[in-house]
Amino acid sequence: MARFRVAAAIDFGTHASGYAWSAVTRDGADPRRRDIVDREQWPGTTEKRYPKTRSALLLDGSDTVLAWGYPAVRAERPPGSRLVTGMKMSLRPSDDPSRPAPGSRVPRALSDDLSRPVPLIAAYLARLREVAVAEITAGGRYRESDIRWCLTVPAIWSQAALGAMREAAGTAGFPSGHDALLLEPEPDMAALYCAVQELTPTGPVRALLSAFRRPGRRFVVADCGGGTVDVVAYEVLGDGSLAQLGRPSGGAFGATYTTNRFIQDVLGSRFLDQTNLERLTRHHWAEFQELLGDWETHRNTFTVGSRESVALRVDGLHGLLSPEDLRHLGEVQGGKGDRIVVRPKEMAGLLESAVGGILPLVDEHVARAVEAAGGGRPDVYLVGGFSKSPYLRERVRAHVGQRGRVFTPDRPERAVLHGAVHRCYASAVREDGEQGAGAAGSAVAARRAGPDISERCALYTYGARVSEPYDDEDGAQDRPLETNDEGRHFCPDRFLRFVAIGQRVGVGHEVAHRNVVPIRADLPLMTVEFYATHAPDPRYYDTAPAKRIGHLTVDLSTCMHLPREDREVDIHLTFGRAEITVRAVNRHGGKAADATLDLDPEF
Ligand SMILES: Nc1ncnc2c1ncn2[C@@H]1O[C@H](COP(=O)(O)OP(=O)(O)OP(=O)(O)O)[C@@H](O)[C@H]1O
Ligand SMILES: [Mg+2]
Repeated sequence: MARFRVAAAIDFGTHASGYAWSAVTRDGADPRRRDIVDREQWPGTTEKRYPKTRSALLLDGSDTVLAWGYPAVRAERPPGSRLVTGMKMSLRPSDDPSRPAPGSRVPRALSDDLSRPVPLIAAYLARLREVAVAEITAGGRYRESDIRWCLTVPAIWSQAALGAMREAAGTAGFPSGHDALLLEPEPDMAALYCAVQELTPTGPVRALLSAFRRPGRRFVVADCGGGTVDVVAYEVLGDGSLAQLGRPSGGAFGATYTTNRFIQDVLGSRFLDQTNLERLTRHHWAEFQELLGDWETHRNTFTVGSRESVALRVDGLHGLLSPEDLRHLGEVQGGKGDRIVVRPKEMAGLLESAVGGILPLVDEHVARAVEAAGGGRPDVYLVGGFSKSPYLRERVRAHVGQRGRVFTPDRPERAVLHGAVHRCYASAVREDGEQGAGAAGSAVAARRAGPDISERCALYTYGARVSEPYDDEDGAQDRPLETNDEGRHFCPDRFLRFVAIGQRVGVGHEVAHRNVVPIRADLPLMTVEFYATHAPDPRYYDTAPAKRIGHLTVDLSTCMHLPREDREVDIHLTFGRAEITVRAVNRHGGKAADATLDLDPEF
């Protein structure tokens, strides 16, 4: 019997979030027979079917939650309240180029620059967890402790952002153990969804049936969401599992950023001055939200080559603009001064602001898949809510051309959520098989559990800053010299590499560096700092662009009686999962001490 009897997923998106789950049963060992439940009827929704509610909180002056999800966006805003929508994107590093310029007063479609997003994310996740748990436990068959959760995260996120998500999830009441709460990259989960869909005889692409059983097959997944677009190329391995072919890439090219451009470019040019725009957002809140919603509906159905202008009504436009401003509006819109008119060329331009970022990412991964396959045409799967945009699909299809075949699986907005349920499910099936049949059975169980991710590519070169004996090269580089109490010279800036950027590693692959010794004899604590860099094999820890990801401290008090050079420590880093974990062993302390990587908030 599986330890976790329920496999559940949370997709916390920039635009929308939801949950999905499945009871772990014997039948479900076959991924095609899993019964996955999600929620499409969210309070306040106007969508016919979408498995997620809005990632939004309406807060009062003291940050008490007044409403969440769709109702938060739709509700009247009491005085002093604020709507928060960009919680997830606020976890980007502060130097991310897509962050709004400091001091920019242009209103935005999402508040993606929050200074303390973690408590808000926690408040939101707590509500999502509550409704999911209420549904799962409703029949009395399952308890909350039966659930293994998978919380999905962008593939390009820093360790600090992952740490922040884990912290928020803990505050929201999710379990803290890495076994009970998996953090998994979104495109990887979407890849599992695509793989299972194609194994299904009733799946959308019957001609490709069994292709996912064919080792060596390459394909690309582009997860096009509201905030980010993440792209990764994969290969199907001999046991049916999936391996990333290269490091994921992505950026803030999601649909919501086209809405920002709409506000900035279209509304900015229609309203004579900035204060009108600010007045609209501040004093005509409901009308502003309606206008954005209206624009997004048109954007979502806009096609390449469409010749029709879009007319957006704004209630109360006459009360908002002065006669002079209304005249200006009419002039720039060829006589139409009672609504906002978006010409097809402008509409295409707004969509291109996202598409222009997405196509190079697709190129990069298609090229990688073609190269790895020694030619051949990889399949490109577009998933996520934005992949339903006909404009985006047509542009990607035309751009990829003969290099590959572009698909959108059935219900692409579900891909991440359902793929994440498969991820949890596969673990449960594998554990069950291992329990029942020992090592020989585990390989069988792995195959039976359905598609899973087995190898990933390192996002950066990761390593530690260590001291190494000083040599001539250090002198030539003008590196500082440290001298210990024995009069020996060290360079304190050397980089001890654990994994190289792009290196393909198995999930849970552990790299150890043994016999790291302190350089000072008098200190009972050894602090090791870890860095990430794009340089493949740097000599020094600060080879640009390097960032400190965190540090760990090893207690040496049990071996202080030994000569300095005998106080050996082994450092183990585990890669291949979204989160890097660390273990340090004081070799003379008797027992292995688990260490946690104290993450720097900036990376
Ligand atoms: N039918 C549709 N056609 C086109 N776009 C759509 C459609 N339905 C939803 N979208 C857009 O997709 C976006 C949401 O996609 P999704 O739910 O994948 O994003 P998310 O997971 O919240 O964001 P992210 O993954 O970037 O954090 C929204 O901007 C929405 O307007
Ligand atoms: Mg998403």
